[in-house]
Amino acid sequence: MRPRILVTRHVFPEAIAILEGVADVQYKDSSTGLSADELKAAVADKDAVVCQLTDSIDADLMDSGRELQAIANVAVGFDNIDIAAATERGILVTNTPGVLTDTTADLAFTLLMAASRRIAEADRFLRAGRWNQWKIDLFCGHDIHGQTLGILGLGRIGRSMAQRARGFGMRVVYHDLDRATPEDESEWGIEYVDRETLFRDADFLSIHVPLNEHTRHAVGSAEFELMKPTAVLVNTSRGPVVDEKALAHALESGQIASAGLDVFEEEPSVEPRLLALENVVLVPHIGSASIKTRTRMCTMAAENAAAVLTGRRPPNPVNPELLDAD
Ligand code: DGY
Repeated sequence: MRPRILVTRHVFPEAIAILEGVADVQYKDSSTGLSADELKAAVADKDAVVCQLTDSIDADLMDSGRELQAIANVAVGFDNIDIAAATERGILVTNTPGVLTDTTADLAFTLLMAASRRIAEADRFLRAGRWNQWKIDLFCGHDIHGQTLGILGLGRIGRSMAQRARGFGMRVVYHDLDRATPEDESEWGIEYVDRETLFRDADFLSIHVPLNEHTRHAVGSAEFELMKPTAVLVNTSRGPVVDEKALAHALESGQIASAGLDVFEEEPSVEPRLLALENVVLVPHIGSASIKTRTRMCTMAAENAAAVLTGRRPPNPVNPELLDAD
């Protein structure tokens, strides 16, 4: 009997072609996906599931899928999945690292530039028919070149951000629990600083940490107090890493100058106080949204699921201890 796989919501068609090569596929081809109850019913007879960051995959759901061998997330982040529960049940979880690194860093740098040069605000002004003459002080923002970029979390995307900043002649400082080797620091042109110095020194602070119990609200009022009044915050990681209410206060009160946000605490809702502000650029979680990258994320997830279902090692396991046991 062929294995059975559930695809919880719309993906690029190349992924379905891969999955159909190895399994019978139940495909919910819609962006709204399945309700929690529908998801439970749908996994009941499945061997694998291809899901997205908007699907909450908890222990209860795993218990409904007694045959589940693999959960393939179409994302590099996997905070939507209870990894400990999956590991306990012997279910392999996979993600899509690497392929979205540069695309996400491109968006982080875009937000950095848009926030500091007031692009969204100026666009709204022009479209509203309010531009009646060139003025010496019209939409003056802050320079990017020669400034200091602070990177919180030096993973793949953080490093890719550093590479872009070097092209703009920026000084790059970073903080991470794991310090890079002196050789890597020198090759990437980055300086390690302690956490407090990172927030104090940064003209631009870009967040690149995963969401977990240690990073939830890692950036809040205490951090905004350390930052320069001219500083710009960029978040393309996960919304709950930033305390959104504290950020709204920091932007309203001039504690920091502006922000560029791709991610939010309660997506797709956005703190209403942020929506009312001119000095924040808001985009709807599109960090990895190039056609090429999103297509590749879908095919990677499919390849991961297909590998597990055909008895091969998946290329991107999140809980590899299940494979490496014994
Ligand atoms: C991820 O992959 O975790 C992003 O948030 C979506 O690309």
